[in-house]
Amino acid sequence: MTTLGFDVYGTLINTQGVLTALEELVGDKAKTFSNTWRDKQLEYSFRKGLMQHYETFAVCTSQALDYTCSYYGTNLSDEQKKELMSLYRVLPAFDDVKEGLTRLKEAGFRLYAFSNGAADALEMLLNNARIRDLFLDVVSCDDVKSFKPNPGVYSHFLRQSKSTGGCAWLISSNPFDVIGAISAGMKSAWVRRSTDAVFDPWGIEPTITVNSLVELDNKIIHS
Ligand code: 2OP
Repeated sequence: MTTLGFDVYGTLINTQGVLTALEELVGDKAKTFSNTWRDKQLEYSFRKGLMQHYETFAVCTSQALDYTCSYYGTNLSDEQKKELMSLYRVLPAFDDVKEGLTRLKEAGFRLYAFSNGAADALEMLLNNARIRDLFLDVVSCDDVKSFKPNPGVYSHFLRQSKSTGGCAWLISSNPFDVIGAISAGMKSAWVRRSTDAVFDPWGIEPTITVNSLVELDNKIIHS
């Protein structure tokens, strides 16, 4: 049986889902504000992981929001920030996700959600997006107090999903995650969620590249 671990933020769940609320708060710089917020959230996870100064992904998200407000000189109230953070817990799934996951489940793959997010935040997010029932389980990097792409988090995933690198895939839109998983001995599919997305020129390539989850059941062979 082949195991598939799905990255959550940016792969299953559209982190740009806060754009509407941001447009009301920051006007036409909402898109750049949202991109800076996401980039800084990931940067904080990398730095906190490397420093071995772990704090949850929600703390990274909250501190990245504070940074982004200062960076753009946007004075959001604590209430407005709390509202944005609460939206992060109920972001929408991409349009292709339900059908793509259903096809893979029906094809006999073992599906897991696998994310930096804490388990309770992921359960709420996936239930709200009505896709939680498609997964056998949810694996959180919080269990090992580190973040992707630490090789230890991929080993944790393999242990929790009772699989081995040779028959396990990581499915992600985030090149850092794809490269991390392959370097840890897994196979990995890069979900190229935007046409201007560029893969890092590290010489470590995705096992396969798709533009949508609905392509996966024809491209991933049971190992
Ligand atoms: C994740 O969900 C951050 O997208 C990354 O772990």
